[in-house]
Amino acid sequence: MDFNLSGKGRRALPQPVTYLMNKGASGDFVSLAAGLVDSETLPAEEVRDLISGLLSERGHEPLQYGINAGLASLREKVRSRVAGQDSTSAADIPLERVVLSTGSQQMLYILTEIMVDPGDIVITSAPSYFVYLGTLQTAGARIVTIPSDRDGMRVDLLAEALEKIEAAGQADRLKIVYVTTYFQNPSGVSLSIERRKALLDTMASFTSMRPLVIEDAAYRELGFSGADKPSMWSFDDGGRNVAYLGTFSKPFSPGFRTGFAFLPENLVEKVEIVKGNHDFGSANFNQHVIDAFLERGLYDKHLSKIRETYRAKCLAMCEAIDREMGESLSYMRPEGGLYVWGDLGEIDTDMQGVFFERCLEEGVLYVPGILCYGEPESAPRSKLRLSFGPACAEEITEGIKRLSKAISSVGSSR
Ligand SMILES: Cc1ncc(COP(=O)(O)O)c(C=O)c1O
Repeated sequence: MDFNLSGKGRRALPQPVTYLMNKGASGDFVSLAAGLVDSETLPAEEVRDLISGLLSERGHEPLQYGINAGLASLREKVRSRVAGQDSTSAADIPLERVVLSTGSQQMLYILTEIMVDPGDIVITSAPSYFVYLGTLQTAGARIVTIPSDRDGMRVDLLAEALEKIEAAGQADRLKIVYVTTYFQNPSGVSLSIERRKALLDTMASFTSMRPLVIEDAAYRELGFSGADKPSMWSFDDGGRNVAYLGTFSKPFSPGFRTGFAFLPENLVEKVEIVKGNHDFGSANFNQHVIDAFLERGLYDKHLSKIRETYRAKCLAMCEAIDREMGESLSYMRPEGGLYVWGDLGEIDTDMQGVFFERCLEEGVLYVPGILCYGEPESAPRSKLRLSFGPACAEEITEGIKRLSKAISSVGSSR
């Protein structure tokens, strides 16, 4: 018997990428598809040592419910940390506007839930983080994509898209502009400082529209050199239009499922109410552990270790590509994050295509680029995302050799 599902229930469709992740987990493949962090680098010993001390120091508190907004001392630390990165003052971010979430994914979901009705418009860059595209599809959003280049989203084309939306009388349907500003998933590029400012200026010049700009900064702390840029949030007059989203998943541990947001003042209450509907606050224990990890100065030590690990693994991937594939795969060497975004020219990388099948035969997985576009009909078909997160250097090299064989075999069968 089929249940009589809600519209949202009907729109919740399986994402093709789940298939890839399941295949990767089977152990039969070298997976360059999974966007996971490197398990070997997770701070298991430090966390183990910290937990017993934590319970002695803080007693029962970490085991109790927390509050919807999350642990105040962790929210304070997050605020000081980001203020330091942005060279602003922590006092510029009222603590009430800092809310912790179950991964930044939950905050993306909640913001979408309170902003978007079916048929509303959300602007994303092309390509974009595909899990959020799934969230938008379930919400029934109409996705409008803006091409990006090596400096991130083309803000000149954003202005054109806004003009079209306005001319079509749809200004009030535009609800969210979603941008990943640091080492984007999947393209690896960061939005340039000029474009961070230009994007906000462009939005401000369309007075008929008041969409929420979501700045997803998930990979901010994963720059290989540690060099940073001020957030787009810091250029937004008091954070009135931008929600800044960060996460402890990539720089610390995804198992803790802890993310954070700086919210525009007039969204805080709604977010907390909906968050209360979800879970009365994210796992309090996890927040205490992260809080203590930061307090003891372990976080920054950990960060310098993982930056070096990812720098080395990215290099291993890029060198293997240059050695094994020569000109057949073009890409830009990323300066941070977890991904190499490649282009195979004439080869169709879609899951239904011959190349994907050859890769399965060779035992290697990647993410077909088409899954990263909110308007797949007009997307290029030759892109692919290769992750250097979970695999070790030897597996990365082996994976690239297998991809290269698949390229040659497709080439020779054409
Ligand atoms: C761009 C981006 N944003 C957000 C997330 C969500 O991460 P989490 O929910 O673990 O914080 C991810 C995860 O891969 C991501 O790549």
